[in-house]
Amino acid sequence: MPMSRLDKIISDSGVATRRDAELLIRARRVTVDGVTATSGAQKLDLERATVAVDGAELPRTRFCYIMMNKPLGYVSATEDRMEKPVTDLLTGRYANLNLFPAGRLDKDAEGLLLLTNDGDFAHRVITPNKHVRKRYVISFDGTLTERDAAAFEQGITLADGTKCRSARLEIVGQGHAVVELHEGKYHQVKRMVASRGASVTALKRVAVGGLELDEALRAGEFRELTAEELGRVFVT
Ligand code: URA
Repeated sequence: MPMSRLDKIISDSGVATRRDAELLIRARRVTVDGVTATSGAQKLDLERATVAVDGAELPRTRFCYIMMNKPLGYVSATEDRMEKPVTDLLTGRYANLNLFPAGRLDKDAEGLLLLTNDGDFAHRVITPNKHVRKRYVISFDGTLTERDAAAFEQGITLADGTKCRSARLEIVGQGHAVVELHEGKYHQVKRMVASRGASVTALKRVAVGGLELDEALRAGEFRELTAEELGRVFVT
C-alpha cells in the first residue's frame, strides 16, 4: 500500500477538505495510532495505521464504489458547462470523495452507473479488453427480428465503418429488447440499432458484469457497493 500524507488521507475519506484537515490537526483533533498528530505532512500507510478524527476511526479503504440509478437529463461527467453532471446528485460525505463515473450513459439514458475514485477500477470496467458485459433494456421504433439478432451476434458494422464485437440482441416484445455488449463505443446501442433500420426511444442499463441495478434505488439515488457486489462487476 503506498504511503500518503495525513491531510490527504483525511480529505480522501470525505470528512474534511484538505485545508480543513490541516485545521483539525492543528486543533489536536486527529490521532494516528492513538497519538495526537501534529502535521498534515506526516506520511503513513492507511492499511497499517489507524487514523481517527474526534475519536472516530477513518475507514481503511482508500477507495469508494457507488452504484447510482442515473436519472434521465444528467450527463456522465463530474462537471459540464451546459448540462447537469451526475456528481451533482452525490450528497453528504460522498460529495467530497472526488468520485467520477466509471463508464458513461448518455444524457437521455438511465440506469446503472458506477462511480468511484479508484482509477484502476474504472479503467478495468471501461476497457474493452476486459470484456465487462453491459446489459441494456431498450424500447425502439421500427422492426427488429431474429435476422437482426443474428447480425448482432456476427458483429455489427456501424454506418461509419466501425466494427463492433459480437453482441446479444433479444427481442422481448413489440418494440422492446435486451442488448448485451462487451464494449462501450460512443452511442453504441443506438448506433447498432440504427444500423438495422430501427431507432432506440428509451435505454436503461440494468447490469454491469454480474452486478445488477438495485431496483430499490429510485432515479437519482445511489448507495455504496458491498465487497461482494464489487467482485461481481468482473464476473462474466
Ligand atoms: N449505448 C448508447 O447508445 N447509449 C448509452 O448511454 C449506452 C450505450
